[in-house]
Amino acid sequence: MNQISRRQMMASATALTILGTSSAARAGSVNDRLNVAFIGVGNQGMGLLKRFLAADLGNVAMVCDVNRGSYGYKEEDHFYGREPARDFVNDYYTRHRGKGNYNTCTATEDWREVIARDDIDAVWLVVPDHWHRPMAVTAAAAGKAIYCEKPQSLTIADGQAMVAAVREHGVVLQTGSHERSNPVSQFICEAAKAGKIGPIRRVVTTVGYNNKVGPGPGWKAEPVPDGFDYQTWLGNAPKVPYHHDRCLYRFRFNYDYSGGQITNFGAHSNDMAQWGLGRDLDGPVSIQALEAKFLPEGSLFNTATETKFRCVYEDGVELICQSGPEQVQTRFEGEDGWLQTGYRGTTASSPNLLDGLPEKPSGTDDVLTRHMRNFLDCVRTGDEPRAYVEVGHSTASLCHIGNIAIRRHAQHGDQTLDWDPKKQTFAQEDANDLLTRNRA
Ligand SMILES: NC(=O)c1ccc[n+]([C@@H]2O[C@H](COP(=O)([O-])OP(=O)(O)OC[C@H]3O[C@@H](n4cnc5c(N)ncnc54)[C@H](O)[C@@H]3O)[C@@H](O)[C@H]2O)c1
Repeated sequence: MNQISRRQMMASATALTILGTSSAARAGSVNDRLNVAFIGVGNQGMGLLKRFLAADLGNVAMVCDVNRGSYGYKEEDHFYGREPARDFVNDYYTRHRGKGNYNTCTATEDWREVIARDDIDAVWLVVPDHWHRPMAVTAAAAGKAIYCEKPQSLTIADGQAMVAAVREHGVVLQTGSHERSNPVSQFICEAAKAGKIGPIRRVVTTVGYNNKVGPGPGWKAEPVPDGFDYQTWLGNAPKVPYHHDRCLYRFRFNYDYSGGQITNFGAHSNDMAQWGLGRDLDGPVSIQALEAKFLPEGSLFNTATETKFRCVYEDGVELICQSGPEQVQTRFEGEDGWLQTGYRGTTASSPNLLDGLPEKPSGTDDVLTRHMRNFLDCVRTGDEPRAYVEVGHSTASLCHIGNIAIRRHAQHGDQTLDWDPKKQTFAQEDANDLLTRNRA
């Protein structure tokens, strides 16, 4: 049953049971359980899957990964992939549903098989960034609701294609910029937006340093491990020899598959910046690279190891995005004070500004669970989720133009690029070549 027919069924069910049943109560009822599939069950996919089960958010019908199962994810002793994920789900259902052994969750290496299933309402795309657009566009055409991890896209052109597909097919897409579902971030960004620190003059965002070390120039190819479909993992990216530091978790440090920490953590800190500025669907009009460091040419990790860039919005407000020890931090500086939020806590120029600051939720109601629940609620109601597709695209675009500026800086020296946030083009014609990677 695809998303539309499911929604129609929900509407008829509501019509039959509307008496005495609030929509809020229905949203959590067993009858509303959606059938979902997780595509990509590695570091983040397994984390989301475990939360999904613990909070009983729906039924996990299928998991998909090109890795049958292996160690060597973010930490060496993390054992993930499609078979461990499938077994985890079935064991969980066997222990918690109390009706004998479950084997209802199946595993596949073929993501197209997942999307072709009529009985799957929603798909989680928790794959490397170069796979977000191909999968999301296909899933949208099949009428699936989509939870797509951040950064929403690999390139600005990819993001545009995703927005177009989601709107053409009328499906719900939530981007995994989950700070949108963190009440602490909501408090700070909404306070900034409401003018609690006066007109904002500057926002400073932080992206973490690389947390892994890859091989330098002259690195040697390795044999592809048994059970890992490397060619499909590469997908539309250049065909290059295998090395374990290219793939699981570490893909984020290679520009063929991701954008380094600017897109990885910037998809949180820059997302909060635009939220607090009230510029969810906007972008700066100029961007200037201030600092960028890269590893020697030929290193496997070729995204920036350190960065600093400066954006200016049309009203003169400045955004500085820089590498720092805190992986994610967003600091709003206004004429009357400042507010700062991030992974390590929340501070302000005056304690009064933090009156009423909520606790960060934890356990089976933690931030990631809330973000997934918000998505599922919207699949049922048709409302926009908190990080809807245009928001995800706008945030990713800011990160991408930051990357473009620092990469050009490394090649051509200091230069300010003029950006049209509506048309999404640079005034400098040659910089527009970097908006796409020209991949199928
Ligand atoms: N919201 C967050 O804070 C957060 C945190 C971590 C990662 N992420 C995002 O999640 C995504 C995945 O990151 P990760 O750290 O989990 O990476 P990972 O390498 O640990 O996991 C990705 C999994 O996808 C699989 N995969 C790759 N191509 C596939 C394909 N074509 N079909 C099926 N499976 C495929 C890989 O084999 C791997 O198991 C990235 O976009 C990343 O930015 C978000």
